[in-house]
Amino acid sequence: MPDRISQSGLWKIQRDYYRHLGMAAWDDKTPYYVTNSQVISESYADLITAFLLDHPPDLGQPLYILEMGSGTGRFGYQLARELTRKFQYFQSLRPLQFTVILSDIVEDNVKFWEQHPRLADLGPRIDFALIEPGFEDRVWLRRSRQKLADLSNPLVVVANYIFDSIPHDEFRVHNGQVEECLIEIVAKAHCPNSSPERLDARDVEIVRSYRPIHAATYYDAARHREVLLHYQKSIAQGSVTVPVAALDCLDRLRQLGKLLLISSDRGFTSAEAMAVYPDHPLALHEGCFSHMVNYHALGLSFPGALSTQRHLLDGVQTVCFSDLPAGPQLSYAFGERIDRKNTINNANDLFCILRDKPPFRGLLGFVKLHLHDPNAFSAVAKKLSENLAGLCYGDHQEVVSTLEQVWEHDFYFRGSPNLTFWLAHLYACLGLFERALSFYDLTIERQGVDEMLLYLQGSCWQAMGNAEQARHLYQQALQRVPDMPEAMQALRSLST
Ligand SMILES: C[S@@+](CC[C@H](N)C(=O)[O-])C[C@H]1O[C@@H](n2cnc3c(N)ncnc32)[C@H](O)[C@@H]1O
Repeated sequence: MPDRISQSGLWKIQRDYYRHLGMAAWDDKTPYYVTNSQVISESYADLITAFLLDHPPDLGQPLYILEMGSGTGRFGYQLARELTRKFQYFQSLRPLQFTVILSDIVEDNVKFWEQHPRLADLGPRIDFALIEPGFEDRVWLRRSRQKLADLSNPLVVVANYIFDSIPHDEFRVHNGQVEECLIEIVAKAHCPNSSPERLDARDVEIVRSYRPIHAATYYDAARHREVLLHYQKSIAQGSVTVPVAALDCLDRLRQLGKLLLISSDRGFTSAEAMAVYPDHPLALHEGCFSHMVNYHALGLSFPGALSTQRHLLDGVQTVCFSDLPAGPQLSYAFGERIDRKNTINNANDLFCILRDKPPFRGLLGFVKLHLHDPNAFSAVAKKLSENLAGLCYGDHQEVVSTLEQVWEHDFYFRGSPNLTFWLAHLYACLGLFERALSFYDLTIERQGVDEMLLYLQGSCWQAMGNAEQARHLYQQALQRVPDMPEAMQALRSLST
């Protein structure tokens, strides 16, 4: 029988995967590096520090940082160390007692952390909790033997690669009409990855179907209904999700105190970026799966909502949502460190050089790590242009946004990199010929005209279907160099 996605058997497959494998889930199986790197824990520590500078904590009370779905525990370990280091810079934060709580639904993971010598070294700066899905407001701290309750300081919640693993629903919207997506999970005839204890995600087919619904009465929970109605009104056409479990989880955590949520995951931070896709299928990893997190929906309930705007679908988006207004320190730290520099993704993208993958991501990561520096861009522009074939929508948008950001840093002098030429060339490779032509014009203004620039402009016009303008430019190129083979060949192609 087809079910709502959130009520389907998918989530049991997911929970069983983690509970059955325990710590073995990270033994070359579940992806973890981006959300466990030194870079991410250090960046989060800066965000938490900035938040506390905006909203000074009660120094007589501890600050709790609850990490949901901690997995290996490595992120929490680094975060506790980074916070200890960073708080020393600020007299107002030095006396603050804080505890990072590692939590998970998997007992095996909690036991692993309890026995880990590195975590033991951190003393009261670290604690552990086993959390049952649906009971996130009932947190028993196993090390200090107390319940998490009566918090006078805000609760910092860290949630990396977790909202992509918990239930959501999917809908198609078309001019105010809404259809729900139903799924049926069908076990394959041969299930080599499953056992009597658990069905493996690789051994099932997910059959999707759609049917019209009445959005105003679809959900009982007001929070879910608000999100669905928001999309019914604001999206003319497209596919959206409602992250029901994440919304509930945050509302339950709000019972404990005001929240600062910092989260990174594959996901959408704007409704438009999400709705552009006709559907949102799951990504299958070794036995578990993930879906794109709808951060836009989660942000609707927070007065302070900061998020990255990454077009690439892989890598992570990062959000920082707060029940308190985002003050200047946090806005600065998020805007400059996470959104602009974004070492969380950009440093990770450079790994592709070692992984024998197409260098596209690494080249973009290189440019972005250099804060869109024109020299860094010009150094990789040729290689980048050779790697633009077959880009998907998100990749295409990311390249365009990178080019425009590089252009914002233009500062021309004789000896500066030939930025306008490389921008023109890349725009031509992307098929955005009008923008390419405007950069070829600027190149001619800066360095004077030559036969190659005339030929390249001609090929842009030809690609746009203006044969007359293209012919004129090829002929101009040939007046300069009568036997220029590219121009001769292009003229011949116009007459066939
Ligand atoms: C993809 S892993 C991410 C682990 C870690 N945050 C990281 O980035 O490497 C998902 C983790 O969330 C845990 N988990 C799954 N469902 C959960 C739930 N409903 N509540 C809390 N943790 C959950 C899993 O056991 C697993 O440790």
